[in-house]
Amino acid sequence: MATSQSPVRALPTLLSRLEDARARTDALFRLLPPNSFYDRPIPERHRLIFYLGHLEAFDWNLLAVPLAAERRETEFDKLFAFGIDPVGGGLPTDVPGDWPNIARVEKYNRTTREALDQRLQNPGVFESNDSGTANTVLLNVAIEHRLMHAETIAYLLHNMPTERKTPQSAPSADARTAPRQRRVAIPAGTTTLGQPRSRGMFGWDNEFEQQQVFVPEFAVDAYPVTNGEYLKFVQAGGYEHSIYWMSEDWEWRSQRRLEHPHFWQSRSSSPASDPETHWEYRAMFGTIPLPHSWPVYVSHAEASAFACWSGKRLPTEAEWHRAAFGTPHDAERTYPWGDAAPISSHGNFHHLRWDPAPVDAHPRGASAFGVHDLLGNGWEWTSTPFGPLRGFEPFPFYRGYSADFFDGKHFVMKGGSPRTDICMLRRSFRNWFQPHYPYVYAKFRCVEN
Ligand SMILES: [Fe+2]
Repeated sequence: MATSQSPVRALPTLLSRLEDARARTDALFRLLPPNSFYDRPIPERHRLIFYLGHLEAFDWNLLAVPLAAERRETEFDKLFAFGIDPVGGGLPTDVPGDWPNIARVEKYNRTTREALDQRLQNPGVFESNDSGTANTVLLNVAIEHRLMHAETIAYLLHNMPTERKTPQSAPSADARTAPRQRRVAIPAGTTTLGQPRSRGMFGWDNEFEQQQVFVPEFAVDAYPVTNGEYLKFVQAGGYEHSIYWMSEDWEWRSQRRLEHPHFWQSRSSSPASDPETHWEYRAMFGTIPLPHSWPVYVSHAEASAFACWSGKRLPTEAEWHRAAFGTPHDAERTYPWGDAAPISSHGNFHHLRWDPAPVDAHPRGASAFGVHDLLGNGWEWTSTPFGPLRGFEPFPFYRGYSADFFDGKHFVMKGGSPRTDICMLRRSFRNWFQPHYPYVYAKFRCVEN
């Protein structure tokens, strides 16, 4: 298994965090030989060259005015400004020749960083600006935006053939058997979503305000659904029978002719119906026999179909919170394991691995109710459409960040993946995605009443 060597540690200042975030994205781009930068690993997304310029362009467009930074080179500020949200519509049609060469983008990146850094070294820079938003908030946005893209870029690279990437050590097979799934009873109680502005902590616009939600009793899977468990659904004809699928999900499955999770492969022509099929797992840097103890990564549509087949359902966002942060005594925890800062024995997060780990590999990360593997190892789908919490206000400098997605077509994901930085493991953090996008590091668990 290829792993990076970075320890899990919180960095003390915003500038050191920015430096660390830049080092992470720079390291990702070093995984690409020059002739791979114009690849488009996921048809709905931009070519990789876009991301090379986007991180610096975003920082510049966000910070230049408030920091009063100046530089001459502005030609790529617009070209690299925005990504694509792949909902429904057609696919991008640009060709490699539409994009500048790597050397020009690298020069743009260099001059942009230098111009911003010159201002960031000014001791008064964190005090205030004229925009009404503290520079500390803007810097947090720049850092977390970059770290979110560190995850996006990782799953884009994951979707490329290994030979298109700089050679790394091959992944190791993992023959550990999956733990026996069991139900954990969660008593009725109140859970807290979001965080209060009055606390003065950083959060994205969709994390405010704080609200209490009463959650009736329910039972939840102790572990995320594993590849081993999901294999039974595949072998039972789960991808052949529309009765398990919502109609729009079935239509999507049929159009794509999906027969199994995106991260699986087989050399058989009709793998699902053949019990002898040798399934493989497409890890970041090679294939291995399907690891039965790892969580299955699937789209919301596939997760919902599995839940229906098993007579269960996906948890709501509030149920997920209650299972993760609640306790039998009604006090709530900062993290599932307690209030201590995250360390590597709590879960598979913070860029320590390229691939998932067995769902029972981090018992120290279990919640007060005994629910395992909640933070890290894959985001977890909920049944809750992404929407505003009461008291939501868009960021004045980025009004569409969340509001553009309050459309009923995106679902909340909680937790984190192997490529999620510890700063985004905070309780109020919410991720979201559309249901028909199988490339993300997203797992799930089921609940029942
Ligand atoms: Fe972005």
